[in-house]
Amino acid sequence: MTDLVPALKELMATYRRARGGRHISDTIEAVTVLSDMFLGRRPTQPGYLSKQHLRRAYVEYYLPLNACKVARILDEMARYAGPFLRGTLRVLDYGCGPGTAALAFRLWGGRASRLVLADVVEEALDEAEALLGPTFERAAEAPPGPFDVIFASNVLVELGDAGRFEPLLERLDPRGYAVVVEPPTAECARRLMEWRDRLVERGWRVAAPCLGIARCPMRAMPDLWCHQDAGWSPPGWVNEIDDRIGRVHETLKYSYLVLTREGATLAEGADWRLVSNLHRSKGRAWAHLCGHEGDLWKAQALTRDREELRDFFRCDRGDLLRVQGPAGGRLGPDHRIRRE
Ligand SMILES: C[S@@+](CC[C@H](N)C(=O)[O-])C[C@H]1O[C@@H](n2cnc3c(N)ncnc32)[C@H](O)[C@@H]1O
Repeated sequence: MTDLVPALKELMATYRRARGGRHISDTIEAVTVLSDMFLGRRPTQPGYLSKQHLRRAYVEYYLPLNACKVARILDEMARYAGPFLRGTLRVLDYGCGPGTAALAFRLWGGRASRLVLADVVEEALDEAEALLGPTFERAAEAPPGPFDVIFASNVLVELGDAGRFEPLLERLDPRGYAVVVEPPTAECARRLMEWRDRLVERGWRVAAPCLGIARCPMRAMPDLWCHQDAGWSPPGWVNEIDDRIGRVHETLKYSYLVLTREGATLAEGADWRLVSNLHRSKGRAWAHLCGHEGDLWKAQALTRDREELRDFFRCDRGDLLRVQGPAGGRLGPDHRIRRE
């Protein structure tokens, strides 16, 4: 997996030299305001990124977290759309804030022949310019396409209705990809799951995280929601803010969808995806697997078979598996399992 943290550290050092240092207590106060808004503990202030102290705190705290989520998605995209992604692309970062997704794309190694950053908050675009240089077109709304990649990172949650995002999809080249990242809450994730089903009915392909299934099987299970929870090593200053506000960011949590009309998808690369944690208890381990069709498979294995099924026992949420042998029941020593 690409680790953006070293590049982010360097970038933030340059940014702080240009913008001036900030006292940690100011950052913590502003992160608390943002965090309360994002967690629904206080109303979202329209245009909150126009306020300098909130914008600065966003760059210090949320930008590294969100950029690393985008990098993980790009790593996965490289598995099924590598040659496409390594080309020189027309890219739109919609609801860019301080340019988080565009920055992640660049630090990840992506190249753009056209890079557009769109945000209703003018000052957010200024911040993006401080980070990315004057290397992009600025826009308040999405301009006409076509685009090869459209990022929408943590913006549907603010639009409220995913339908408002749909005109954007018309700006996507048929072989291109829309990368939608959302907070990992049940509410946001389930809204994304419903929207994905509507889009599939209308001919869109979900390149990831799904493996080609027509209807999200988790929608029938009200206590589950599709989200990722991946280990990472946060930069020191994020740890320091977390310590001071009493939060922990040992993992990156998010929901996401990668949509395409005609592009390649993850479906060819695996049989099943782990869509829960691997639970271990009383001589067994189990996890929910999502495949190419049908319901989720609650796959169980006995600890005594852990040598034959070692790749299953090593799995974590989001991992991809090849499984030879009957699906639906218990995994046994006759199954052949490979973690991709
Ligand atoms: C939570 S921030 C996400 C910023 C960045 N994409 C990230 O992931 O870190 C949401 C951004 O969406 C922008 N936004 C909200 N409504 C918008 C709209 N209708 N059109 C464009 N941008 C919008 C906000 O100004 C804000 O910058």
